[in-house]
Amino acid sequence: METVVSGIRSTGNLHLGNYYGAIQNFIKMQHEYNCYFFIADLHSLTTHPTPENLHNSVKQVLVEYLAAGIDPEKATIYVQSDVPEISELYLYLNMNAYLGELERSTSFKDKVRAQPDNVNAGLLTYPVLMAADIIIHKATKVPVGKDQEQHLEMARTFGNRFNRLYNNDYFPEPFAFSYGESLVKIPGLDGKGKMGKSEGEANAIFLADAPEVIRKKVMRAVTDSGPTQENQQKPQEIQNLFDLMKVVSLEETVQYYDHAYNTMSIRYGDLKKQLAEDMILATAPIREKINDIAGDAGYIRKVARLGAEKARESASKTLRDVREIIGFRSF
Ligand code: TYM
Repeated sequence: METVVSGIRSTGNLHLGNYYGAIQNFIKMQHEYNCYFFIADLHSLTTHPTPENLHNSVKQVLVEYLAAGIDPEKATIYVQSDVPEISELYLYLNMNAYLGELERSTSFKDKVRAQPDNVNAGLLTYPVLMAADIIIHKATKVPVGKDQEQHLEMARTFGNRFNRLYNNDYFPEPFAFSYGESLVKIPGLDGKGKMGKSEGEANAIFLADAPEVIRKKVMRAVTDSGPTQENQQKPQEIQNLFDLMKVVSLEETVQYYDHAYNTMSIRYGDLKKQLAEDMILATAPIREKINDIAGDAGYIRKVARLGAEKARESASKTLRDVREIIGFRSF
C-alpha cells in the first residue's frame, strides 16, 4: 500500500484554503492509503511564536483535524516535534542542499519580502525540513494545495540526491496529490491572491468562524462596480468570488449567478449573501464538533500519544537504515 504524508503548520485556526486544498483529500485518502498527517510545529518556529501561542496553535490544529473527520484509527495523526527522527534526517539532508537552490525557492523569496527583519536560516532550509517530513515515511503521495508544488519538487531533488550520493534507491519519489484534475488554489476575500493567514484575518474564512463572522467577512469582500458589457471576462476580484462559490455552492447556484453576471443583472449583495450562507453550511459539521473535542483533554492527549508512537516506529526504522547507508556504524 502506498504511503501518504502531509502536514499543516501550527499558526492558528485552519481556513477554507487548508480545508479544500489539503484536509478534504486527507479524509478520503485515509480509507485508501497508509496515511501520516501531522502538525508542523517545527516549521512554525520560523516566526518565533511564544510558548503559549505555539502550544495553543498545535492543539487547535489537532482538534480541527479531528473535527474535520480525520480518524486516528485509520490515519496516524502526530505532532512533528514528537518525532525527533525528522530533525535528524533534516540535518543529513541539509548537507546536500545548496544555498543557490534554496535561495531561488519562491516561498523563501516571498518570506524575505514579508519579514525582512527575520530572514533566519530556518526559513532558508524550510524545504529541506519538509523533504525530511515526507521521505522519513518513504511516502509517494502528498496531498497539498497548489502553493506547495515547488516544495514537492525540492523534496524529490533532495531524496534523489541522497540516493545518488550513496549509490542506492532507498527513497522513493514523492508527488503532490489531489483527487481533482489539478492542485487546488482557494482565493482569499481581498480580491488579490490566495486565502491565507498571513494575508490578514479578514481575507480568510476559518473553519471555527461563527456564522455571523462569516457573513460579515464575505459582505466586506472586494468587488467592483459591476459588469459594463454582456459576457465580459470577470476581473480577478469577481472571479475569486465565483471560484469560492464553485467549492461551497451547488452547481445550479454558480450557473445562476454566472448567467446574472453575463446578462448584467447581477447584484453583488445577493451573490455575497448566498456565498456566505453556503460557506456556513459547508463548515457547520466541523464547527459544531470543534468545541466538544477541544474540551476533551484526555482524548486529545490519547490521540497525540498514540500518533507519536506509530510515527516514531516508522521514522526510526528509516533512520536506522539511513545511518547505516551513511556509514555511522557501531564498533
Ligand atoms: P500550510 O500550513 O501553509 O498549509 C497547509 C495546507 O493547506 C494548503 N493551503 C491551500 N490550498 C489551497 N488554497 C489555499 N489558499 C491554501 N492555503 C493553504 C497548503 O497547500 C497545504 O497543503 N509547508 C507546508 C506544511 C508542511 C508540509 C510538510 C506539507 C510541512 N511539512 C510535508 C506536506 C508535507 C505549509 O506551510 O503548509
